[in-house]
Amino acid sequence: MDHVLWCNKHPLVLPDIVKGEGCYLYDRQGRKYLDLESGIWCLPLGHCHPQINAAIRAQSDEIMHSGYTYGNPIIEETSQALLEILNLPDGKCVFLSSGSEAVEFGVQVLRKISGKPLVLTLSDSFLGSYGSAGKKQADEWVLFDWQRCATCNSSEDCDPQCSYFSEIPFSRIGGFVFEPGSSSGLVRFPPKAFIQNVVKFIRQQDGFIQINEITTGLGRTGKWFGFQHYDISPDIVSVGKGLGNGYPVSAIAMTPEIIQRLSKMGFYYFQSHQNDPLGCAAAKAVIITLQEEEIIQKSKTVTEYLYERLKQLAEKYAIIQEIRGRGLMIAIEFSDRLTDDVLSDLYRRCIQQGLILAKRPGLTVFRIDPPLIIQKEEVDHFLETFDPLLAEVS
Ligand SMILES: Cc1ncc(COP(=O)(O)O)c(C=O)c1O
Repeated sequence: MDHVLWCNKHPLVLPDIVKGEGCYLYDRQGRKYLDLESGIWCLPLGHCHPQINAAIRAQSDEIMHSGYTYGNPIIEETSQALLEILNLPDGKCVFLSSGSEAVEFGVQVLRKISGKPLVLTLSDSFLGSYGSAGKKQADEWVLFDWQRCATCNSSEDCDPQCSYFSEIPFSRIGGFVFEPGSSSGLVRFPPKAFIQNVVKFIRQQDGFIQINEITTGLGRTGKWFGFQHYDISPDIVSVGKGLGNGYPVSAIAMTPEIIQRLSKMGFYYFQSHQNDPLGCAAAKAVIITLQEEEIIQKSKTVTEYLYERLKQLAEKYAIIQEIRGRGLMIAIEFSDRLTDDVLSDLYRRCIQQGLILAKRPGLTVFRIDPPLIIQKEEVDHFLETFDPLLAEVS
């Protein structure tokens, strides 16, 4: 890799991966790795899923890219499929290329239709790598630290008179961008009552709700979308990562009310690969496969089994402080007595033993976000390999 700039803050751990299949990766030497990270949480159906690859091949033989002025039926079909699972049958979608882009698009829409400069989000939300959502500058964003609510005695009802809540300047905020499960490394889920209050107050001030489903969407948390755990109705939803099962396509879905307002005001967005048929074909195949094979429902049994076995490990090893998660978005929180060097060493040993988990520098958390198609045998293989490695560290 002498001529590739690796500038994503993550070390290049396996430089020679030549094949992916289901939950496994293979390197040039033929070594096999169980991918419990799904790439970067992008593969609900696992690597090189035959139906998705076939759909991509078929579409690429027809037309991949059409441009601003030529449509194709696959764009409408994919839009309908996405709106159906979002329960927004009369809405509209735009297909883009990355999660960051789909979030930023929504933020531009929020600002345009609300006419207000400020947007609210939770301080530990990750919204993307660039644009206003990537920078989250103080003159554009209100960042609320909900961790203070996590220990609140009345978090079941969430009292809006509370001093933390009253800090939020709702009258100057045009919208709330909610990531329904903090995925910036720590896998934490804000309390439902608090989120419902925020949504209520935003709406009382004629603001709008955008959900960032880049990581939590497409079944990752055990439901189609992470916001469905909160009984709230979004105006705008950004979807990415798993939508293409490895192919870079993202989408933004909007309610008819948002579309009506945008049409009245005139809203324009240009990007060369907007609504490309190839990305749409991948996305449609992912949605249909998840639907027809009932992957999300079926993943529940293996998910429960994985939690049960992880909790047994936590009982066995005091170095594990907590197992937390929702669906197949799971964190193993280690004791903060373990240094980063010790955890980095554990991570290296996992790789040597053919296990890919996610470890981010400086965090005492290992993440597990396997493909939703993971089987009990693969969970057993993971835990039988991981257990002795934990024993060594203990
Ligand atoms: C919650 C969330 N939002 C947005 C993004 C940005 O998506 P992308 O990397 O596809 O631009 C990510 C990426 O990790 C993410 O986890």
